Amino acid sequence: MTALQTMNTDSKFALITAGSSGIGAAFAEELASRGHNLLIVALPDEILHSYSEKIQERHGVICHTLGLDLSEENAPAEIEKWVTTNGFSINILINNAGIGSKEIFENLPPEFYRKQLMVNVVNTTIITRVLLGNLKKSGPSYILNMGSLGGFFCIPEKVSYVASKAFIHSFSNSLRCELKGSGIKVVLVCPGGVTSNPNSTQIISEMKGLARKSVLNPEKLARVTIDRMFRNETTIIPGLLNQSFLHASRFVPPFLKSLVINRQFERKSRYGA
Ligand SMILES: NC(=O)c1ccc[n+]([C@@H]2O[C@H](COP(=O)([O-])OP(=O)(O)OC[C@H]3O[C@@H](n4cnc5c(N)ncnc54)[C@H](OP(=O)(O)O)[C@@H]3O)[C@@H](O)[C@H]2O)c1
Repeated sequence: MTALQTMNTDSKFALITAGSSGIGAAFAEELASRGHNLLIVALPDEILHSYSEKIQERHGVICHTLGLDLSEENAPAEIEKWVTTNGFSINILINNAGIGSKEIFENLPPEFYRKQLMVNVVNTTIITRVLLGNLKKSGPSYILNMGSLGGFFCIPEKVSYVASKAFIHSFSNSLRCELKGSGIKVVLVCPGGVTSNPNSTQIISEMKGLARKSVLNPEKLARVTIDRMFRNETTIIPGLLNQSFLHASRFVPPFLKSLVINRQFERKSRYGA
């Protein structure tokens, strides 16, 4: 019997944004290996179809893909239409899509920030909104939001990125309170550095000290996060060093915190300072 013949016909799906590469692809592999059907939304690419076929063959689950630019205003409505038209029932939503940045704030064009905030903040919020009714009906369900350890700190050269993640932290925590008893669990994961692509690997190679030592690979991050999500943890800080760093930072005065953070990141030429 082929993997396709043994396909999991349970009609529930996990929907993962940006699920075709980086951390999103690791979540897709991890969930598929545990028998979850997948809906993957990612930038339009000709490899999307063969990507979903490979997942189906490897894991015997159903995998559908939707090519969509998540920085576009109509993206959440397109997802809603796709889900409704096909009658997909979603019990896990992973809001993984996110655009990072490491550059002096004024060096990037306004259009970059529009896109970054559309993907990281605006559409993450609206996708959650348009899928909430579906998640409620398919419960018990999970919403897993990608925060970042950086979202707890002030980090030069990552100013809009860490601000967008601070929004995700706050959004997740308040939504969790509001949805108590609804059958939907809201989980926030806040990784430190993850070697998810050549760019993040390069940025991580420029880090120093703790930030560099606490780096995870996407596969380990996905495995640990999914394990802990199903154990009903609400805020997941993967990696012992990251957890200790966050706890310790709560007792440190802000000026000392910025000093430590600044030392973790190799600085280019910030106004010659
Ligand atoms: N890597 C880290 O160190 C780290 C640490 C903490 C948190 N995170 C968070 O984890 C999440 C995933 O990060 P990652 O490192 O895996 O990033 P990545 O390797 O850069 O992957 C980003 C994903 O987002 C997709 N994407 C980018 N712009 C998009 C758009 N306009 N519409 C649709 N999809 C778009 C990319 O699609 P394509 O593959 O088609 O380009 C890719 O699948 C993000 O939310 C990030 O902030 C990452």
